[in-house]
Amino acid sequence: MSGPNSEYDPVQVTPLDEEHVNAMREEALAAIAAATDLEALKRVRAEHAGDRSPIALANREIGALPPQARKDAGQRVGQARGLINQALAQRQAELEIEAEARMLVEETVDVTLPWDRATQGARHPITTLSERIADVFVAMGWEVAEGPLVEAEWLNFDALNLGPDHPARTMQDTFWADPPEDHLVLRTHTSPVQARTMLTREPPIYVVCPGRVFRTDEYDATHSPMFHQVEGLVIDEGISMAHLKGTLDHFAESIFGPGIDTRFRPSYFPFTEPSAEVDLRCFVCRGLSPAVDDCRTCKGEGWIEWGGCGVVNPRVLTACGVDSDRYTGFAFGMGIDRTLMFRHGVADMRDMFEGDVRFSTAFGSEL
Ligand code: DAH
Repeated sequence: MSGPNSEYDPVQVTPLDEEHVNAMREEALAAIAAATDLEALKRVRAEHAGDRSPIALANREIGALPPQARKDAGQRVGQARGLINQALAQRQAELEIEAEARMLVEETVDVTLPWDRATQGARHPITTLSERIADVFVAMGWEVAEGPLVEAEWLNFDALNLGPDHPARTMQDTFWADPPEDHLVLRTHTSPVQARTMLTREPPIYVVCPGRVFRTDEYDATHSPMFHQVEGLVIDEGISMAHLKGTLDHFAESIFGPGIDTRFRPSYFPFTEPSAEVDLRCFVCRGLSPAVDDCRTCKGEGWIEWGGCGVVNPRVLTACGVDSDRYTGFAFGMGIDRTLMFRHGVADMRDMFEGDVRFSTAFGSEL
């Protein structure tokens, strides 16, 4: 039987000896001091004080030591762990203060900055003019009608007496939508809204329709593949060309001022018979050019081309289910962009579509 081996001192040969414990402690303290943020400290805590850290593993060995050595080792390890935990808590507190200070700097808001100097946007003058035009008609009891931009070929053309072989179809360079068998177009004018309105409601009809239209035009100072028109349509008993003239004169005066009226020149549109081109009395020279001076706005003409109009063709009434024996009507259509151009001296159409807010702000704000 062998007695206790007095030569055997487990403290010397396990990770529990002083040197090892000190090394583990110093390593842990150095790592704690080196942690620069809370995230890093969290990793250090797991590595040096967690369940699988060297010091925790060493702690588990204590039970295997003889009683005297157990006490020493227990003290040593306990002290080291205490120091490590204390250092962790201290570093944690420091880093929390740092994080908060950093947040205050990074997320700071200077409430003394001038908050009311932000540049404001502006409504587009085409929008405000469209609304102003609609208001003129709403004030007379008309309604605003709308239709889709992608339109059925039949409504854009056929219903308006523009059959497939009608030569006037080619006057409007059309964007066709795919697939061709769907027979859809980007509407080339606002006139299909006439057809839609007649097909969906009973006369009397008094509608105005401002909106976008599309044609395969070049994009230059006077053309754009997208532009705006306003369409008007009246269907009632006893409506004549005289009502049309009176309406357009009132429209002209409302937008361009007292005394500005219109004149008709004979023309042709498949959807109206008779048809006319509408000219607007020049609101600058009041029709006196060229007798008085060479007006820049009307180029010395005294009149400005404004749009097309006429008495609704009975064929259109019939196609749209309106009794052409009982009802007659008139229609007109003009370009809103063109109207804006000569009303405000806009020289290049592209300025209206390129979205530079400086163009819009120049028109001021209009509610
Ligand atoms: N839709 C025609 C165009 O785009 C304009 C027009 C002319 C509309 C005569 C009408 C009208 O309602 O009666 O060129």
